[in-house]
Amino acid sequence: MTVGSNKFVISVGIDFGTSSSGCSYAYMDDAAVTVIDIPDRARNIKTPTQSLYRKNTKEFVCCGFKAVKQGNRHETGYDLITNVKMALNSRSKDPKSSKHSLETVDVIRDYFRNYYIQIMKYLKSKDPSLNDPSRFRYCLTVPNLYSDNARLIMRRAVIEAGIVKKDDICDQLLIINESEAAGLWCEHISPNLDLTHDKYFMVCDAGGYSVDVSVLQIDTSSGKSFREVIASSGSFCGSMCLDDCMERLLRNRLYLRDTSNKHIKRLMDEFVNTIKPEFDGTQNVQLTLPEELRLIFDPMAEIGEGKLYISVREMKEDVFDPIIRHVIHLIRDQFKKMRNKHIHVMFVTGGFGESPYLTHRIKEAFESRLDFLHFLREKDGAVRRGAALFGLNPEVIDQRILQRTYGFNSVIKDGFTKRNCFTIWARKGQPIRENMWIEGWTSWVRGKFDLSISIALYSYDGDEPVKMYKPQGAKLVAKFDTQFRIALKPGKDRANLNIFIRFCLGNIRVKVNIIDKTYTYPPQYYDNELLSPEQNLDSSGPHLHIDIR
Ligand SMILES: Nc1ncnc2c1ncn2[C@@H]1O[C@H](COP(=O)(O)OP(=O)(O)OP(=O)(O)O)[C@@H](O)[C@H]1O
Ligand SMILES: [Mg+2]
Repeated sequence: MTVGSNKFVISVGIDFGTSSSGCSYAYMDDAAVTVIDIPDRARNIKTPTQSLYRKNTKEFVCCGFKAVKQGNRHETGYDLITNVKMALNSRSKDPKSSKHSLETVDVIRDYFRNYYIQIMKYLKSKDPSLNDPSRFRYCLTVPNLYSDNARLIMRRAVIEAGIVKKDDICDQLLIINESEAAGLWCEHISPNLDLTHDKYFMVCDAGGYSVDVSVLQIDTSSGKSFREVIASSGSFCGSMCLDDCMERLLRNRLYLRDTSNKHIKRLMDEFVNTIKPEFDGTQNVQLTLPEELRLIFDPMAEIGEGKLYISVREMKEDVFDPIIRHVIHLIRDQFKKMRNKHIHVMFVTGGFGESPYLTHRIKEAFESRLDFLHFLREKDGAVRRGAALFGLNPEVIDQRILQRTYGFNSVIKDGFTKRNCFTIWARKGQPIRENMWIEGWTSWVRGKFDLSISIALYSYDGDEPVKMYKPQGAKLVAKFDTQFRIALKPGKDRANLNIFIRFCLGNIRVKVNIIDKTYTYPPQYYDNELLSPEQNLDSSGPHLHIDIR
């Protein structure tokens, strides 16, 4: 991998996982490209993504293992917040409990703030010269399916945590899809797999919440770079979905819908920690029943010697197969999109990727179509280490495929009239080169009144072609504070407003060019829970005044 700019000293990759988070770094000028893991205070490589707050308040107490320990002591004075990453993709306000007023972004911000202190402490202890955080580049990983808004919220959380300053955000904070990051690392450690020019490899990162799949093509014509040739895919069918299925099965078997959750939690802990990781699809399962439950069991349930037996058939049909079918479908879909192009290697990463039963099912379905099939252990941290690699040289992925269609809505106000104009800018499935600006323009007739133009970017997930009008279901991605007033001389001639847009993952920028002046705008953050898109367009932020006379 070619090492990039030396404006930064190190690249820090952060894998903000649903169950646990990890962090790695690499020096920009290290020709050997050594990636180093940053452990937490207790020397664990990954830290639970869980935070403790004082009950019904926004008062952050602690996070990580400490939070888990304290939160599970059944002390009543605290709220243990889990699965915050899931909440970010839904529009729910609160990750776990609805009693307090914590927003998802607040929880992520507090977690990052704490994490940042840990990172800084570790870096300084290892290398005292690493004392200027403005010279660290950060690369954050997100599920492939995260919406643009979820990516913007992650950015906002990082800024609010004080990790990067808003002004520096452009290239100091990068965002990369999880399977792409994992792919960079897998390729980096596999010089023996004959991954040469033009070859394709697939990565499936199967985590707790999401399963993400990407296919990358290698280009070694000048240095080494990677390109997406089909859109990556993902689904929220990670290992935690197995937990949901198991809990349903237990409640059905034990008629415990109304009984204490404490018992279910005990059984689920045993499932998550010992049964699930070992299940290989060949053996019946037995769980240890808590004392109190032995008296109130369902007479039909096979309970003996304090054990609850579940047949392998039930485990497969009710717990594993529905989820694993989903994972297989995701991978198959990528093969289908590749048509007859040969995929040389497939890598499987993430905690769920270690499941013996999933491993077996993936081998059964795909091994014969590949030259190599590799399963990496979760502790090898492909995602966080790949993120650190990406930060060394973001241009290493030089083409991506757009996941959705994008259009601009420009609102042009001219005296008493207001004209809404929706223009499609880029279409779903379109290849986007790194650092490429897509150009479009709008024009107006120079009139009597000053003009005010504001621009907002919308995205649309649907597959059908979108034409002139904003389609139903289009989502506001970002507005750009382009509310410039243009003082014009009356006249009949038309003038052009050229708009350029650049799509990088989670880093959409807009450049506006009027006559001979060019201005670049980062997106403005907005909270779509609080303001309607149209209200947002009428922002009262600092305006740009241009006089064209
Ligand atoms: N052998 C296994 N079989 C099935 N699931 C497993 C196994 N080992 C770990 N897991 C599950 O994998 C998850 C942790 O994996 P990982 O760290 O990759 O997830 P994550 O990064 O936190 O989640 P995500 O990437 O979806 O945000 C947990 O839900 C854990 O129960
Ligand atoms: Mg993960």
